[in-house]
Amino acid sequence: MGERVSPMCPLRYRKQMAKITYIESNGTEHTIEVRNGQSVMEGAVKNNIPGIDADCGGACACATCHVYVDEAWTAKTGTASVMEESMLDFAQDQRPNSRLSCQISVSDALDGLIVRMPENQH
Ligand code: FES
Repeated sequence: MGERVSPMCPLRYRKQMAKITYIESNGTEHTIEVRNGQSVMEGAVKNNIPGIDADCGGACACATCHVYVDEAWTAKTGTASVMEESMLDFAQDQRPNSRLSCQISVSDALDGLIVRMPENQH
């Protein structure tokens, strides 16, 4: 007999969230829980975390959601698509671990993810 978990059960709810730490360029850290399926950008914007502008709303068309993925997490976040790579060319101070946070989808595998924001998004 399979385990039945109520959709309202707090344990079930918690399993659908991943803890993500956003670090501003001045070193200020914000650790929040983001729902699986949302993007890293959406997690920041919905929680009023400064440093991610997301002018295009997640359409991979502005590069104002630029983040640096912590080196320990680059394998799990994967690589940027060709479209994302070309958009990243518009970001200032692009580095090997640069990503557009709207293109990183949150999942259990990213529980504990750390991203750093650049000094500015323009
Ligand atoms: Fe515009 Fe990510 S929000 S490219």
